[in-house]
Amino acid sequence: MSSRVFRWFALLLCLAFLFALPLVPQSANSGAIFRNAPIHFSLTNPSLEAKVDALLRRMTLEEKVGQLVQYTSGAPMGPTRGSEDYPAMVAKGEVGSLFNVADARAANEYQHIAVEKSRLHIPLLFGLDVIHGYRTLGPVPLGLASTWDPDIVERSARLAAEEASASGVRWTFSPMVDISRDPRWGRIVESAGEDPFLGAAIARAYVRGYQNGHLDAPNSIAACAKHFVGYGAAEAGRDYNTTEISEHTLREVYLPPFYAALEEGSATIMSAFNALNGVPSTANPYTLTEILRNQWKFPGLAVSDYTSVAELIPHGIALDGSMAAMRAFSAGVDMDMESGLYHQHLAELVKSGKVSEARLDEAVRRVLRLKFALGLFDKPYTDEGRENQGPLPAASLEVARRAAERSFVLLKDEGVEDRLVLPLKKDALHSVALIGPFADDAREMLGSWECHGRASDVITVKTALEQKLGAERVKYAKGGEIRSATDAQINEAVAAARAADVAILTLGESGPEMTGEASSRAFLDLPGRQQELLEKVAATSKPVVVLLFSGRPLTLPWAFAHVPAVMAVWFPGVQAGPAIANVLFGDGAPSGRLVVSWPRTVGQVPIYYNALDTGRPAAGVDLTRPPKDAQEKFVSRYIDVPNSPQFPFGFGLSYARIVYSKPEISVAQLKAATMNEQFHNSDATNKTATTVAATVTNKGTVAAEEVVQLYVRLEGTDVEEPVRKLVGFERVSLAPGETKPVTFDLTADAFAVWDMRNEWKIQPSRVHIWISPDSSQGEPVELNIVP
Ligand code: NOJ
Repeated sequence: MSSRVFRWFALLLCLAFLFALPLVPQSANSGAIFRNAPIHFSLTNPSLEAKVDALLRRMTLEEKVGQLVQYTSGAPMGPTRGSEDYPAMVAKGEVGSLFNVADARAANEYQHIAVEKSRLHIPLLFGLDVIHGYRTLGPVPLGLASTWDPDIVERSARLAAEEASASGVRWTFSPMVDISRDPRWGRIVESAGEDPFLGAAIARAYVRGYQNGHLDAPNSIAACAKHFVGYGAAEAGRDYNTTEISEHTLREVYLPPFYAALEEGSATIMSAFNALNGVPSTANPYTLTEILRNQWKFPGLAVSDYTSVAELIPHGIALDGSMAAMRAFSAGVDMDMESGLYHQHLAELVKSGKVSEARLDEAVRRVLRLKFALGLFDKPYTDEGRENQGPLPAASLEVARRAAERSFVLLKDEGVEDRLVLPLKKDALHSVALIGPFADDAREMLGSWECHGRASDVITVKTALEQKLGAERVKYAKGGEIRSATDAQINEAVAAARAADVAILTLGESGPEMTGEASSRAFLDLPGRQQELLEKVAATSKPVVVLLFSGRPLTLPWAFAHVPAVMAVWFPGVQAGPAIANVLFGDGAPSGRLVVSWPRTVGQVPIYYNALDTGRPAAGVDLTRPPKDAQEKFVSRYIDVPNSPQFPFGFGLSYARIVYSKPEISVAQLKAATMNEQFHNSDATNKTATTVAATVTNKGTVAAEEVVQLYVRLEGTDVEEPVRKLVGFERVSLAPGETKPVTFDLTADAFAVWDMRNEWKIQPSRVHIWISPDSSQGEPVELNIVP
């Protein structure tokens, strides 16, 4: 092909991509996204590339380096402090991006300097950790994921983007798509849990919400999939700790949500703090270049985590700042967040030939591409009138309330058919005792990463219950603080419970102080004297409802054994009170499902449903008591606790009883060769290989939302596959007595395995397929994949 024809061909191809790839919402129904093929990235186009190239040609070495430098303005969050003389640095073109700038006016002030005073007038890009809302905070991400509802996730992210962009923020460091199997890790609260399929669906929803398919709209913000990669596997759950992940697990578990986020169009990615298999993720050429660039062809920006470039020195792979910058940059980190080491050393590294000019241009191109794609060159300033200082609009509150209601997971409600406790009946109760440190604490409802959330926007549980029942029917007693209590406080709470028909206890861990970054815990029980408070209130023999506020599963075996009703409510955000009151009194129904396995004790951790089996499975052994003979002992088990979690992944009760039929399959035999063809041929990847269907019936007396889940297990493959893995889910509304069919179309993706030769392959195998209410129940149907 002559070079001219080739250029035309390339142009046509780009245009075809551009028009063929609007951001179409993906169905969360089934299939998967775990291919190793290049992603389709919709932010590049020929005219944008031409602008980038033209600008790049005019830049000096120092100006190029400047685009790769990012500092925090405002409250620094980490071990180092950034420089204070940003205005001068911005004027000289030494900074490409600032984050933590607080409002539109401050952003505009900086932007005027960048656009009017710097030689090439390149606008700044303002970033911020907009994690679960900007001002209208919704549930923390673990709670939001527990909705199993990509639509509400997308709407929450859209709202966050609207609000953040009004303050000049055009880049959020979200979604965090780290798979987490360890509740000791404080950042599990920022994750979507332990499952790659669900994690991928949620990641896509965030990206759609933030970027809205039009990055250049002034109310869109660029997403950042983080932390690449394996950060959630920190050994012993201790934050920043090292990780060891096999290639098989990396490909099947940890990478898929990243791939999904990028394929959905996430403009950026963030490298992680942790070392992965001995190489710090911020200097890992295998993940940052081989996988991200060579295999996935991601053309977006890779930013380091906060000072993670400088941290290569304590990691032990760099002797000084220059070497750290060299290692991170050569491995593929384009922008240095906060270390200042690119700022100090990159120009010299290029001059000395230690890093190539081509690599520098590539990184700068990615920054400029993003700034052009965001429309910052045309509209660098933020309309200061868009920022809302008044009350939150009703429509925003509606999104936050709905998300919160759907995030609650009802863990126990004694006897679902003849319910003893929930939902509470408003007219049948004279009064309720409302007890515990979370009942009237607005700040706690915001959880970690409160962003610009305001405690004054929060409606607490106490306020909402008083509105619902009348203040005189709510007997409030705090019962102590989260970490301490006096005898008098506990006694007062017990007296309140005695005087009421039912005791609602709000218990848990502190959101801002005990969850999130650098908040790993070795004990997962209730802090302070809350357990004692619970036991003393329960001893009154009044019915007790525990509302559990936490950013992770907490190990509360006593509560699960003795308390009739327990609901995990995470940290629900500004609409905490109304959402909880609605669900408690049946004006809403609990429909959240666990996205992490809930351990009985810390000794079981890490515990996750999609585990590989052993050669000595404990199936058929009574694990509730110590082994009585060799047959019971020499299997993979504990001698002091069952293997099973307290509550499995996918679990959650509703106020109805839902019955599943046995699944049926349309085609029970498939050919591996045909499936491999479909898997690798992009025209055929969405072709249905087989269909599995079941009916779900609401046998209860109230309406319910059921999260119907689809799982597979493959046997006979050359590498071990999990005992179950999620490959589809669907939220279904069911009126009392109603039956609905649920049908999942399975594509080749659902059966793809990262095999011994390090490739995705569909192998001859026997497959069990479940349609079930969680990861532990259901009767499977069988499918055979033949050669
Ligand atoms: C460190 C955290 O690991 C990361 O998630 C966050 O985006 C940055 N700090 C910036 O605040």
